[in-house]
Amino acid sequence: MKSIVFPMRVKVYILFVPLLIVFIAADTSSNISQTQSLAYGNTLVSYPQGTFELGFFNLEETNKIYLGIRYKNIPLRNIIWVANVGNPMKDSSAILKLNSSGNLVLTHNNTVVWSTSSPKEAQNPVVELLDSGNLVIRDGNSTNSNQEEYLWQSFDYPSDTMLPGMKIGWDLKRNHSRNLKSWKSNDDPAPGDLSWGIALNPYPEVIMMKGTEKYQRVGPWNGVQFSVFPEMTTNPIYHYEFVSNTEEVYYTWTLQQSSLITRAVLNQTTQQRIHYVWSDPDASWVVYSALPADECDHYGVCGANSYCKTSASPMCQCLQGFNPVSPEKWNSKNWSQGCVLKQPLSCTDNYTDQFVKYEGMKVPETTHTWLDQNITLDECKAKCLKNCSCMAYTSSNISGTGSGCVIWFGQLFDIVMLQSGGQDLYIRIPASELESEGTKVNDKSEHRRTVRRSGSAMGKLVDGQEIAVKRLSSSSEQGITEFITEVKLIAKLQHRNLVKLLGCCVEGEEKLLVYEYMVNGSLDSFIFVLNSIFALQNSRSNESGYMAPEYAVEGLFSIKSDVYSFGILLLEIICGIKNRALCHGNQTVNLVGYAWSLWKEDNALQLIDSSIKDSCVISEVLRCIHVSLLCVQQFPEDRPTMTSVIQMLGSQMELVEPKEPGFFPRRIPTEETSSSDQNRYASIDELSITTFNGR
Ligand SMILES: *[C@@H]1O[C@H](CO)[C@@H](O)[C@H](O)[C@H]1NC(C)=O
Ligand SMILES: *[C@@H]1O[C@H](CO)[C@@H](O)[C@H](O)[C@H]1NC(C)=O
Ligand SMILES: *[C@@H]1O[C@H](CO)[C@@H](O)[C@H](O)[C@H]1NC(C)=O
Ligand SMILES: *[C@@H]1O[C@H](CO)[C@@H](O)[C@H](O)[C@H]1NC(C)=O
Repeated sequence: MKSIVFPMRVKVYILFVPLLIVFIAADTSSNISQTQSLAYGNTLVSYPQGTFELGFFNLEETNKIYLGIRYKNIPLRNIIWVANVGNPMKDSSAILKLNSSGNLVLTHNNTVVWSTSSPKEAQNPVVELLDSGNLVIRDGNSTNSNQEEYLWQSFDYPSDTMLPGMKIGWDLKRNHSRNLKSWKSNDDPAPGDLSWGIALNPYPEVIMMKGTEKYQRVGPWNGVQFSVFPEMTTNPIYHYEFVSNTEEVYYTWTLQQSSLITRAVLNQTTQQRIHYVWSDPDASWVVYSALPADECDHYGVCGANSYCKTSASPMCQCLQGFNPVSPEKWNSKNWSQGCVLKQPLSCTDNYTDQFVKYEGMKVPETTHTWLDQNITLDECKAKCLKNCSCMAYTSSNISGTGSGCVIWFGQLFDIVMLQSGGQDLYIRIPASELESEGTKVNDKSEHRRTVRRSGSAMGKLVDGQEIAVKRLSSSSEQGITEFITEVKLIAKLQHRNLVKLLGCCVEGEEKLLVYEYMVNGSLDSFIFVLNSIFALQNSRSNESGYMAPEYAVEGLFSIKSDVYSFGILLLEIICGIKNRALCHGNQTVNLVGYAWSLWKEDNALQLIDSSIKDSCVISEVLRCIHVSLLCVQQFPEDRPTMTSVIQMLGSQMELVEPKEPGFFPRRIPTEETSSSDQNRYASIDELSITTFNGR
């Protein structure tokens, strides 16, 4: 079944510095029993598929020897687990043995370098490396392969890598937490300062720490998802699970497509949690998502009692009824002191305080919370009102009409107003601060306006929801089944800057798409992008030219993909040409390629549309061209954020030189000499569509 578009010949946009790692394979076996041992030069290969292997490796530059697990058939950045972190061996005289009480013991020069500590003993312990990458010690006499039955497993002691099936979080029975820890550096697996795990708050949540400081939150599990987690949308690749009960609190993911090779790594260098997918033809790890995702995703950027909104300027806003602690600092974008209530709560005075409802929020950090899964939202409100330190409440589970109650005490930190996803949040304020009964604050109500545009119409659903309807051209070659499959896929994609696709209608040649109705202007640009997704799947080309490389090939939406599209649009406005194939000299390039060649020749003036040349301020237009080239960089991390774009356009600040932009078509030789543009011009970064089949 065709399921997803995936990059196959995309130029690598994360550059890997290959580690010089030597795994010396001589003897290989699939388990170690009590009478055997593993020495330098031997490997233990995972069974039955041989995906992983356990062995000794040295980080050559430093000549330190480690025992670890790596992908057997991946040449680079392949180590997923290290035993003797922080305690490397100097020479190859190391030996790994299973002792009679069922523990693995790594010795070097007669001293124990590392060992396991199983609480249980077994008659006949056996060590096995599973195809999941989990190294386990189990009782060889028992046929039970339940995880609970293992005497010891490496999945309980993760390094910097999370693999499918691994549980990140707490085993409460053993009071043991499973966290990811970044490597100190590319050639030192000792723990760096990033870690990723679950904070056992009353309302538990996944959190990334930098040293002892909170660094990034995806928001607590709200019964459906974490509010900020790019990978988290239901999708055909991953299945996510969050479990919280008296025995364990963890989250995990499994793959719906077993042929995919995927890992999440804490990266000390970039200070991110990066989710990679292995691309065979490129022989590289391709970024699927990265956290923190944007400026608002950095813990507590706006200080206490405020919220962050990426698209707002300034991005930090005090909650309604609150003022900046220091207006001067706040106005100079020093937000760390946060906000305070303008007037005190009238807490005990007949409970007259009110609540402001915010929609689509990442809820505050959950250290000081209280949770009851069994009461209603009304009871929750009453509970909050009666406790003078309660500042906010919401449903603990948003599925269906919502259920359960979580309340927050004291200062509120790290609230984000999201453009999609998120949940309702009720903030307590004195009645006098409530501007009008039932005030609601969210992105949509702030801007909702009526717009009519050609090719689209708007209307209302029976429940009153405003919708926009777009009719697709009937000349589209696409079959109905493919159309529906793709609509389903797109409906699952979430992006904070995109409107939601609510449904579609198909009758005969007619194809209609139904959207949530939104801010003026965003509708058509979104639909244009969405059409281009269809075009992409049909013709393997990014015909519209607005799509960022990672967007086009992976369906990976990010703030930075929008920056790319903005760059193209800006260029088109300046040049008065669409981003399509055009001739420059004897080459065929698109607008980006054309602009880049002129820029390199110091000839960017030639780009300016003759109809504006006389009336414009040349230096301003050149600045715009400069900014647009920065926006269309190949790698998302090289593109500025929209906030910086605004600063760049509105100031004289010095701009960095653009590198070669991403995704510009050149003529490539093909056997077909068809006259259609689609066949003649393919991008150097040509896309192909791969189907993931179970093996
Ligand atoms: C096996 O190794 C573990 C870990 O070093 C140790 O605690 C235990 O005493 C050893 N058992 C025997 C029988 O040597
Ligand atoms: C091995 O241990 C002995 C005694 O502790 C020590 O003298 C020797 O230097 C060690 N050798 C290595 C290679 O570490
Ligand atoms: C972290 O990212 C840097 C830069 O992209 C890369 O060179 C490095 O290999 C990455 N480290 C890990 C552990 O993935
Ligand atoms: C309010 O809640 C806090 C935190 O649970 C608790 O310590 C305090 O006793 C409560 N106060 C009242 C009046 O219930």
